Amino acid sequence: MRLCVTGGAGYIGSVVAQALLHDGHDVTIVDNISTGHLSAVPEGCRFVRGDIRESGTLTDAFGTDTDAVLHFAALSIVGDSVSRPLDYFDNNIGGTVSLLQSMKTHGVKKIVFSSSAAVYGEPERLPIVETDVCRPSNPYGFSKFAVEQMLEASRVAWELQYVSLRYFNAGGSTTVHGEDHNPETHLIPIVLDVAAGRRKSFTIFGDDYDTRDGTCLRDYIHVYDLADAHIRALSAMEHAYSGVLNLGSENAFTVAEVVSAVERVTGMKVKYEIGPRRPGDPPALLASSKQAERVLGWKKRRSSLDEIIRSAHEWRLEHPDGYPS
Ligand SMILES: NC(=O)c1ccc[n+]([C@@H]2O[C@H](COP(=O)([O-])OP(=O)(O)OC[C@H]3O[C@@H](n4cnc5c(N)ncnc54)[C@H](O)[C@@H]3O)[C@@H](O)[C@H]2O)c1
Repeated sequence: MRLCVTGGAGYIGSVVAQALLHDGHDVTIVDNISTGHLSAVPEGCRFVRGDIRESGTLTDAFGTDTDAVLHFAALSIVGDSVSRPLDYFDNNIGGTVSLLQSMKTHGVKKIVFSSSAAVYGEPERLPIVETDVCRPSNPYGFSKFAVEQMLEASRVAWELQYVSLRYFNAGGSTTVHGEDHNPETHLIPIVLDVAAGRRKSFTIFGDDYDTRDGTCLRDYIHVYDLADAHIRALSAMEHAYSGVLNLGSENAFTVAEVVSAVERVTGMKVKYEIGPRRPGDPPALLASSKQAERVLGWKKRRSSLDEIIRSAHEWRLEHPDGYPS
């Protein structure tokens, strides 16, 4: 297929773009490099540097015949979205309006969207299933939920086909691509940096939650397993499926358990301090991925916590300063 990957210079998009190339697809990446890296663009992709809010960029990216879009481009730092919500709405919602308009103009009718567990807000029960109520508790989660509504409305109005994949916490690396956000806000790369002495220490936000050890509980999923789900989502749309699917490992770990796992896997000590809770942090998130298993025939293969940490650690050893550009 001829595929357009928005945000393919970012962490998850670059891993998926590489997997799509490996599967024999023709891949064009469009990315404005606002949070991504030029050197993360996989060799063999066509690269269009630009913003999805500009129709000229998308016309260039779509060329004459694009079969489907995989849409990763977004701003995605929860706390940042609380400080500057309008930038998040402009980039994530406005960017997707622009993308869908261009898709409609160019007759591109299939999209896989990177949604998030953040659409649920604080869940009423665990594990979370797709039909549970969505009550996002921050502008980032709201922007993802708004895009899901736009996809469904476009399905009704002009027969767009979509698969919205609600990732839980993505982690891990491939031999080529890894996680290099600036600033980094994700737990595993932060703890690895503390273990390796690249950061002095880090703060666990709250140890008085109603969880096994009082720290927040999260569900981690390996980027390899996410990439596999995207490829299967493209096939599902070939069979006329549209819908929303959770992607998690169905296994959750507390922050303190992640710290112990990093110490075990790397053999290094991790220094941390306990700070106050962060407003809006749900105590526990745990996915049911049964629907993704049924619809996509998908199964997590690499998402043990140790494998996620081991692969992320190895990538970081190879790339102590992250991507060169
Ligand atoms: N990392 C996670 O744990 C996680 C969890 C749930 C959902 N997601 C979603 O998955 C997607 C990818 O996340 P990531 O961690 O790889 O993020 P990332 O920041 O590494 O990648 C996003 C990419 O999109 C690009 N981009 C942003 N706005 C753009 C615009 N207007 N035009 C063109 N390019 C633009 C950035 O330059 C970057 O390369 C995001 O949509 C994110 O919300 C991530």
